[in-house]
Amino acid sequence: MKKLPFVLFAAAVFAGSAAIAQQKSTVPPGAADAAVKAAFPGAPEEFVPRLSQDETMKQCSATRNNPPKEMAEAIQKREKATIEYPADGKFIGDWKKGEALAQNGYGLRFTDYPATRANGGNCYACHQVSKQEVSYGTLGPSLYQYGKLRDYKEADVKAVYEKIYNSHSALPCSNMPRFGTNKVLTIEQIKDAVALLMSPDSPVNKD
Ligand code: HEC
Repeated sequence: MKKLPFVLFAAAVFAGSAAIAQQKSTVPPGAADAAVKAAFPGAPEEFVPRLSQDETMKQCSATRNNPPKEMAEAIQKREKATIEYPADGKFIGDWKKGEALAQNGYGLRFTDYPATRANGGNCYACHQVSKQEVSYGTLGPSLYQYGKLRDYKEADVKAVYEKIYNSHSALPCSNMPRFGTNKVLTIEQIKDAVALLMSPDSPVNKD
């Protein structure tokens, strides 16, 4: 019995090295792309362009979300250049609208074509946001008390706007949608989402 811990340790090391070995793909390049394109024969016409990767997605896929430094910088620069800023220079909208937006998953699903209303942001699908909503996904970090933890600093308000507008401008191979650049949300809607995270009176920043 005394040897058991070592056996477990050895098994863990072996499993770890097996996982690393798996990283070398034997799938021919382009095979995944072709499979994705063929997988949605019933896709509405407007949806079809979304089945092709853009330059950033291609580079992130090719490098398994770990691009070399120069490529990472080029991605961030290119993505940042797509950001449009509010004409009035104000980043904070209405947090109540932001909360409704965070709860709303309408838009870009096959059944949502043709669109009958504005898209939602579906933030809760990936993030904890306010404490009141207990149903949320955990792919992204918790955003509870986001503004309070950052003292509502102006630089952070702008950074949140940029993150939501184009997540890849902050992290080259982000897993978060590019809401502004991909025209999922409007500038006004993004301001409302910023307000949800960065307003002192938003439920996100209450205890
Ligand atoms: C598909 C999942 C997904 C959705 C939907 C999503 N996010 Fe994210 N978000 C992430 C992930 C994953 C991260 C962590 C870093 C990354 O991959 O970009 C993140 C990071 C963030 C960050 C930066 C957090 C930090 O550590 O500073 C903010 C702010 C944010 N998201 C806000 C939002 C808002 C607001 C919405 C809704 C409009 C939203 N997210 C929708 C996945 C998502």
